[in-house]
Amino acid sequence: LQDRAVRAFASAGSPDDVEAARVEYLGQKQGRLKSAQERLKTLPNEAKKAYGQRFNGVKQALEAALDAARSRVERRAVADDAIDVTLPGTAPRLGHRHPLAQTADELIDIFGRFGFAVARGPEVEDVRHNFDALNIPPVHPARDPLDNFYLSEGTMLRSQTSTIQIRVMESQPPPVRVIAIGRVYRPDTVDATHSFMFHQVEGLMVDEGVTMGDLKTVLRLFARSYLGEDVQIRFRPSFFPFTEPSVEVDMLWHGGRRWVEMGGAGMVDPNVFKAVGYDPERVTGFAFGLGIERLCMRRHGIDDIRLLYQNDVRFLDQF
Ligand code: PHE
Repeated sequence: LQDRAVRAFASAGSPDDVEAARVEYLGQKQGRLKSAQERLKTLPNEAKKAYGQRFNGVKQALEAALDAARSRVERRAVADDAIDVTLPGTAPRLGHRHPLAQTADELIDIFGRFGFAVARGPEVEDVRHNFDALNIPPVHPARDPLDNFYLSEGTMLRSQTSTIQIRVMESQPPPVRVIAIGRVYRPDTVDATHSFMFHQVEGLMVDEGVTMGDLKTVLRLFARSYLGEDVQIRFRPSFFPFTEPSVEVDMLWHGGRRWVEMGGAGMVDPNVFKAVGYDPERVTGFAFGLGIERLCMRRHGIDDIRLLYQNDVRFLDQF
């Protein structure tokens, strides 16, 4: 009995098997051990003691075998729960670069192919780099406190990345061929096309013999690379204190009915060269500053600039 019972418990593979073996051998009503116990009553008194001892030994062995079988199938159930290799995996949700960051990467790539290196400058600027060196005198209306975020005396959040033109020319002799990408701040009322903070890509090329033709070619090539071969851009005469002549650059919006301003550009004003110690008799140069949000919006058909700042995953997921 003991051998057969121990084997039955040992080979039980599931909780049901264990329970079946328990009922068969240790069951209170019809179990085999129970029948063996009944037999005790029919034995002559002299034999009872030896039989009883034997019986207890067998009972303990069976109970131990039951315990062992129970914990064995239980462990397996836990292990089966923990690693169900047939379950489909749960893919982790990966984030990705923000559409504006992707745009910035692409601009760096495109202008890199035209030979432009990347320059950087601080967002908290002094008025010399934001205004004075850019030929914007203290009385100029562009310096109005209502149109700028001044911090303390003489410092401000930069209102244009043209500050970096100055920083680059101060730190190296010509020739120069750089772009700079960064945030600029202006107290504009927020609507579908305006924000108090946006991004610009500034470009600066200075060398002997750089012309307005070079500027137009670079901007045309850039627009085609980023916005597609069929994009149309146009140059309108304009004014900036730090370029002469100056233009505003427009791109034709999708559908071809609306011109949207992409940014400003022009030939670097001799006064700017003087402010940084370059010789305006020897070098010429062009500069441009384009709005990155608008480029990104036209490229992807985004009609509201605010979508770029709200970090709504349903929007961001699409890029
Ligand atoms: N800084 C000008 C702006 O923010 C753009 C510009 C850059 C114009 C370089 C001319 C040359 O509007």
